[in-house]
Amino acid sequence: MRSWAVIVSLLIAVIVLVRCVKDVGIADTSLTDVKQGPTPFHLKIPPGFPDYFLKEENRLTEEGIALGKRLFFDPILSRNENISCSSCHLQSSSFSDPRVKSLGTTGEETAFHSMPIFNIAWMNEFFWNGRAKSREAQALLPVTNPVEMNMTWPEVEVRLQNHPDYPELFDAAFGTDQIDSFLVAQAMVQYEMTLISSNSRFDRALRGEIALTEQEQIGQIIFNSEQADCFHCHGGVLTTDNSFHNNGLDDDMHLPLGLMEVTGKEEDLGKFKTPTLRNLIFTAPYMHDGRFQTLGEVVDFYSEGVHDNRNVDVLMEFAYKGGVEMNAEEKEALIAFLRTMTDASFVEDESLVPALDD
Ligand code: HEC
Ligand code: HEC
Repeated sequence: MRSWAVIVSLLIAVIVLVRCVKDVGIADTSLTDVKQGPTPFHLKIPPGFPDYFLKEENRLTEEGIALGKRLFFDPILSRNENISCSSCHLQSSSFSDPRVKSLGTTGEETAFHSMPIFNIAWMNEFFWNGRAKSREAQALLPVTNPVEMNMTWPEVEVRLQNHPDYPELFDAAFGTDQIDSFLVAQAMVQYEMTLISSNSRFDRALRGEIALTEQEQIGQIIFNSEQADCFHCHGGVLTTDNSFHNNGLDDDMHLPLGLMEVTGKEEDLGKFKTPTLRNLIFTAPYMHDGRFQTLGEVVDFYSEGVHDNRNVDVLMEFAYKGGVEMNAEEKEALIAFLRTMTDASFVEDESLVPALDD
């Protein structure tokens, strides 16, 4: 009998305890605000685009994207607080730089021409020589690059931590106001992922909404022909194979390292990342060193300026005779087709820059 009584009273005690805990829980949440997590953001894949690759651990959220946008435009990340990411990646230039070389925080010139930043959801390797193997790894590098922002991460972290707004913004985005380089890079990438350009006439023609002009269609045929061979490296809706090639810009005496700087392999000498051909109208000058000012110069190069250097890509099969040899009419048609890849709505989209009161 006594053991029964013990068991029953123990049970009652447990029930009472559970109720109390529950009550305390309820009372607690009614006293303080329920902490909401960041709002998930779903990136829309444009019609005809492939699925994209995104690390699970950096899910996009509205707060994360807003924070990344603010950081991208904030000179606080540079030594002299005079340049931001957006100083060398201007929206009006499709997030590239109209200057051949960009100028960093101390006025020094960058080694290469700036690259446009859009549709990076479909890229896995970054920089002309591919030295960053993820978006997050890329985003860390401009800050410590001595020519670009010339800062150290501990210094940046202190600046952001002491800022009147940033701790709160990090808390909203990531649930912590302890700012570190990893979170800065994540926010930056979240914003960059939203830079999607997919509304050119080229896109609308692919979707069957409009027809290209006769000249543009001739250009498209040339682009996709074995004769001009552009499509092998710049084909598909992304207009890049996201790979690295030596397209014959230089002769044997002047081959730049390119991808070899990263891999150390002789076979990668003079190879560079295939750039997108979207928004070329906004991204001049062209190539890793910005050597060509106009599309006319680029097309002249592929037509009769190619160097048959010892590492030129096998796909540049007309390199032996200096290029694919187009006549004036063909060149004009090809340029007309390249211009159809212009998406003015992207460079004018005000939602991509911070609002004035941000
Ligand atoms: C001083 C100018 C300058 C600043 C500041 C700068 N960049 Fe760049 N960015 C460049 C140049 C130049 C390249 C190409 C460099 C190379 O390939 O070595 C580049 C390349 C990139 C790329 C590679 C794109 C691709 O397709 O591979 C990304 C992404 C990028 N920058 C993002 C950023 C972000 C984010 C910031 C701010 C944290 C930033 N940049 C700050 C000049 C700059
Ligand atoms: C073997 C691959 C390959 C082929 C074929 C090829 N390209 Fe390229 N293209 C590249 C690479 C790689 C670069 C960057 C080279 C560099 O900067 O060193 C490039 C750069 C360009 C650029 C400059 C873009 C920028 O933002 O700087 C344009 C424009 C271009 N190509 C158009 C064409 C056209 C038009 C054709 C056909 C006539 C063509 N390409 C054929 C690989 C190729």
